[in-house]
Amino acid sequence: MTLKSKQFGEDFLWGVAISAAQNEGAPATDGRGASIWDVFARRQGKIKAGAKPYPSAEFYLRYKNDLLLAKALGFKVFRFSISWSRILPDGFGKINQDGILFYHRLLDECLVLGLTPYVTLYHWDLPQELQKNAGWASHQMQKWFLKFVHVCLTNFGDKVQDWIVLNEPMGFTSLGYALGKHAPGKTSIPDFYSAVHNALICQAEGGRMIRAHNSKAHIGTAFSCSEVMPFSQKADDIQAAIRLDILLNRLFIEPALGRGYPQDDHFPFLEKMQLHNKAWRYTDQMTFNFDFVGIQNYFSLTVKANPIIPYLGLSEVKASSRKVPHTDLGWEVNADSFYRMLKRYWLYGSVKEIIVTEGGAFYHDHLVNGIVDDQKRIQYYQDYLKSLLKAKQEGVNVKGYFAWTLTDNFEWAEGYHARFGLIHVDFMTQLRTIKNSGYWFRDVLFKD
Ligand code: FCB
Repeated sequence: MTLKSKQFGEDFLWGVAISAAQNEGAPATDGRGASIWDVFARRQGKIKAGAKPYPSAEFYLRYKNDLLLAKALGFKVFRFSISWSRILPDGFGKINQDGILFYHRLLDECLVLGLTPYVTLYHWDLPQELQKNAGWASHQMQKWFLKFVHVCLTNFGDKVQDWIVLNEPMGFTSLGYALGKHAPGKTSIPDFYSAVHNALICQAEGGRMIRAHNSKAHIGTAFSCSEVMPFSQKADDIQAAIRLDILLNRLFIEPALGRGYPQDDHFPFLEKMQLHNKAWRYTDQMTFNFDFVGIQNYFSLTVKANPIIPYLGLSEVKASSRKVPHTDLGWEVNADSFYRMLKRYWLYGSVKEIIVTEGGAFYHDHLVNGIVDDQKRIQYYQDYLKSLLKAKQEGVNVKGYFAWTLTDNFEWAEGYHARFGLIHVDFMTQLRTIKNSGYWFRDVLFKD
């Protein structure tokens, strides 16, 4: 049976998401300060083909056109993030009014078009000035972050009801501070723990500040998640999967829900953390009664024990070597696993509502005679949305799905080759071409 949006219910939120660092470009326009991604991108070998986060899709200049496209495809929600260094160029001090005005123009345009803005406060682009003082690893982070949240609330609070405090805190703390693969490129376990501690506090305190400003606001935060499967039924492999599961799927949600740090006999996370600093422990400052939890599930993982790998003692068994479906980034495609993750988060009992705040896939696109016939991406969305519908019909309160992403954009360390958009962008000419997946949303899914 053809999938139709009306099967998901009248009030289901159909959205499309972008982020400031990935879409805006215009890195120094109108007084914007540098972010950690601008600086990281200058380091040799960090980003594929030496790509920079600009010009990207030039959303800063082309937002009107892109919003019209989002609307034309039939979306009702537009998720974007605020560039911290555009409104506070050095992260903390002086406010840049031109930056504030940009987000007013953007919000006004959303509202005129009837697109509900879902605003992400932090989508990975810390002001570089704050990174000079250790960034997320600094004990000053809470003070800096709450200043930023305060500036956003006092300026945009009248136009925004729906807030996402952090995007994938596991992503930016681990890739940025432990693995060195994302900005700021640090490879320090103590910095990672410190960043985790600070991000957990900022996540909940940010939520509290929004609530204090507007008791009716709809407040969430967005988690990455990936089901972790053991490669074999050997005890070592099973324990390896448990260790990674704690980090990828439990570390940020459990303290937020008031359950403390996740622990397991095989992986005493808290003890490991406290070897470095006794002050790093769960506090109720990390807990906030979020109105919704954002879930972003791009792949599932299979791992086996590997004692020579430091820290976690495991390695991934790639989807390609297991001959299971995967995207062109090698990410395992597994819609059943997505269904199980939705059920699992719902089983916590205290999650009030789930929104899939991102979902999408990269496959090599071919623009031929003005057409991008991206059938694999269409299949991906169909399969994942069927899983979502199944979970919803079985009682999981999933209220929305936001496609990642509107236009092709800067895909972090992958640069520009990994295109996730529903709309193709020629980065030389900025010409936009709606892919067949975009038309699928408009003409199949959203059609009565
Ligand atoms: C997510 C990020 C998003 C995008 C997708 C592909 O982890 O939140 O910005 O890069 O992956």
